[in-house]
Amino acid sequence: MTVCVLHVAAEMYPLLKTGGLADVVGALPPAQTQLGTNARVILPAFPSVVAGLTQIEPVAELGWAFGIDNVRLERGLLEPHGIVVYVVRADAFYDRPGNPYLDSSHTQYADSDRRFALLGWAAARLATGADPAWKPDVLHAHDWHAGLAPAYLRARERETGVARVPSVTTVHNLAYQGVFPAAEFGVLQLPADFFSVDGVEFYGHLSFLKAGLFYADRITTVSPTYAREIQTHAQGAGLDGLLRTRTHDISGILNGVDKSVWNPATDTAIHTQYSIAKFTGKAKCKAALQERVGLAREPNALLFGVVSRLTEQKGIDLLLSALPDIVQRGGQLVVLGTGDPALENGLKKAALAHPHAVAVELGFDETLSHSIIAGSDIVMVPSRFEPCGLTQLYALAYGSLPLVHCVGGLADTVVDASLENLADELATGFVFEKFDRPSIVAAIRRAFALKQRRLEWKAVVRRAMEQDFGWEASALRYVDVYRELIATRAQ
Ligand code: ADP
Ligand code: GLC
Repeated sequence: MTVCVLHVAAEMYPLLKTGGLADVVGALPPAQTQLGTNARVILPAFPSVVAGLTQIEPVAELGWAFGIDNVRLERGLLEPHGIVVYVVRADAFYDRPGNPYLDSSHTQYADSDRRFALLGWAAARLATGADPAWKPDVLHAHDWHAGLAPAYLRARERETGVARVPSVTTVHNLAYQGVFPAAEFGVLQLPADFFSVDGVEFYGHLSFLKAGLFYADRITTVSPTYAREIQTHAQGAGLDGLLRTRTHDISGILNGVDKSVWNPATDTAIHTQYSIAKFTGKAKCKAALQERVGLAREPNALLFGVVSRLTEQKGIDLLLSALPDIVQRGGQLVVLGTGDPALENGLKKAALAHPHAVAVELGFDETLSHSIIAGSDIVMVPSRFEPCGLTQLYALAYGSLPLVHCVGGLADTVVDASLENLADELATGFVFEKFDRPSIVAAIRRAFALKQRRLEWKAVVRRAMEQDFGWEASALRYVDVYRELIATRAQ
């Protein structure tokens, strides 16, 4: 039997992207389609989403919801894979320029609860037959934006007496929970008893992510290590108690690399394409990157790259503390990022202090992100915590060795170039255990030392490029989760 799944999310590459969530929602449905699953997506009708779809047609009038009249469901196609994408049309909520979550002064929109309640509500309508031509067997909610969808499914089941489709909630980042004042509960159109500790209530507030975790039939997160970490008091962000009660329903399924977007042999965004067999292009990418960002054009300077949201999570402060150890050894650093003004300023200052060795590009630039992943010798991801992380996976594919903190998906995907791992031919990068300056500096030193040993460096680069973090295995694991749910329902 073909499984039909509806992914519910706020962003999807290439339509709209602020981080890795978009990469996953852009890659997982086509990977599932390849495996014979019928995967569709529902998104808010943000301007760039509507602009990027073809053959948009109306599906259903959903009427009044959350104070908005004439909410409509439409359906379009996303090429090149031909994925069907539904959009929730409510222009007063979604037709705003720029970032989907923040206004022009970088503050969360005041009506974010209603904007994303509508997404969850419309997804639940679609899962209960709003499109006469298609109905999913499983609803798959991603992050807090979609967290209310499983709650609306339960509410509708209670109202109509018709069994709901099962749902899965995937946690991409437990740090973002969609917490709003309890007084807003009244606008959510949920049964009154849902505002309870066994429901959407969270320490006197309401939490969209908690709703997703409580009401979904299964929970997944994006790496096995993060699945364990979020069940601990230290890293559970207040939700570890709930997660522990659901420990048997939780799976850690690693994200993958979309090879149609991130492959150095076919990447048209980089200076020269390359592969393990034809590796000379990588040096050209490095020279082009140095030129593009204004670094000294020194082929032998060890070049460290970072492509990141600039938030506390990402450990940019730790990186800045270790910067002297890169520069004094003749290394270079290029950072592409946007976010926290204090981190942006810290980086700008470093670039001013070392104009030929440190380059900082503030902003979101998809093309430059590819140039950095391809042109760097090392890609750093020194995150405090990291549910999965994608840039270290892209780095492996591009033979740019990742240097990462041993947490979450970083711990699951990079093998440190310790003497033992080098001898056992396992090393693919550099991993530091403790989140402190001495540990990251020691990893940086190991990187410089390995670069001196040309043949060993080459062997590690080759091994990195041979790692297979494609989507197929993970897409299959999600489909297994869906099948288990459907089978349980049928019993
Ligand atoms: P997160 O989702 O926490 O931001 P990930 O490593 O999973 O972290 O994914 C980040 C994605 O966003 C990657 O595709 C990365 O290349 C991209 N990215 C982050 N910052 C920028 C930026 N300033 N410009 C372009 N791409 C960026
Ligand atoms: C989140 C996480 C990141 C993960 C991404 C996609 O934004 O911070 O680690 O790779 O989602 O799952």
